[in-house]
Amino acid sequence: MPKASPLDYRFIRACRGEETDATPIWIMRQAGRYLPEYRAIREKVSFLELCKTPELAAEVTMQPLNILGVDAAILFSDILIPVEAMGMPLDFDPGPKLEFTIGNQADVERLKNPDPEEDMPFVLETIRILANELDGRVPLIGFSGAPFTMASYMIEGGSSSNFLKLKSLMFQEPKVWHALMEKVSDTLILYLQAQKKAGALALQLFDSWGGILSPRDYKEFALPYSQKVIEAINDVDISIIHFVQGNPALLPLVASAGSDVIGVDWRIEIDEARSLVGDDQAVQGNLDPCALFLPPEKIEERARDILERAGTRGHIFNLGHGILPSTPVEHAKALVDSVHRISAAMNFKF
Ligand code: CP3
Repeated sequence: MPKASPLDYRFIRACRGEETDATPIWIMRQAGRYLPEYRAIREKVSFLELCKTPELAAEVTMQPLNILGVDAAILFSDILIPVEAMGMPLDFDPGPKLEFTIGNQADVERLKNPDPEEDMPFVLETIRILANELDGRVPLIGFSGAPFTMASYMIEGGSSSNFLKLKSLMFQEPKVWHALMEKVSDTLILYLQAQKKAGALALQLFDSWGGILSPRDYKEFALPYSQKVIEAINDVDISIIHFVQGNPALLPLVASAGSDVIGVDWRIEIDEARSLVGDDQAVQGNLDPCALFLPPEKIEERARDILERAGTRGHIFNLGHGILPSTPVEHAKALVDSVHRISAAMNFKF
């Protein structure tokens, strides 16, 4: 049945700090290689083809809902799709590889400002299929990378161990850096607005590499752009989740960017994260993805600890980062069941 209002969803209620019957859970990278059903589709198409074929992308988005019983669906795509649309050819092997990189002002000026409907139509079509297919079952989360993480791939050309190219450009050529971040932010604003228009009820900004910065550098070089994106997309009928991975010392700054929900990795206890974030924003997290290799009763102990620390309001359960490809599916399912059962009993007490 279609929902009358976003607040009919447990996940959206938690994003807004409202009471829920149980704590909602979804899992970063919940559609992916740990699922045999996903691997079966990937045997037939490459990862990028999968992202660009709306019917298939919608199908894999739905898989974890049926298999795990999670409380939200997340669009199946990749954060680098808009980078390709800006004019930088992309491949995966299995990590991302860009054909060329950004190193100077002329490179930045050559980048296109893509029109989402024209240049990334398959993403919006996937969302439209899903909005229809989900039919009120759970909300759909759209997403993009945060400007900093997008720029990191554009400058490094892929993943990196020390981000020397990125930091050299940022420290030594700040004008080029800021020009790139302006352009990326403008692209992301249009892209996220288009996802919302197509039917996403929440949007997550993934700052997978923001944690490599000191608080001082994060504040100067990354935060203003995440804040600009969040301000441009945040209104009453969308919930914004902002996840910076790898550095809990950044949490007060991350919270200041103004999202509804702050993603928390496993490097800090979630009650401590909440005290850094304050009570006006919800928190999302924060089980170590490696904990899913423990036996289910140990997973349950850890889930209970997080639920007790987080409390019954304004918490969305998740892993502290993406689920690993070798995770046993049964363990992921046990986690979802434990979170629902334990939190429902806790909520009942209040
Ligand atoms: O969460 C979901 O289920 C939605 C789908 C999703 C994917 N990537 C699918 C994917 C989302 C939200 C992303 C975001 C993404 N992509 C991020 C941010 C999240 C994070 O993990 O920090 C980043 C940094 C990327 C870039 C990227 N894409 C990398 C580094 C890789 C290689 C990963 C690896 O483990 O090899 C990818 C590929 C990718 N994206 C896969 C999936 C399911 C694996 C591709 C395959 O099937 O071979």
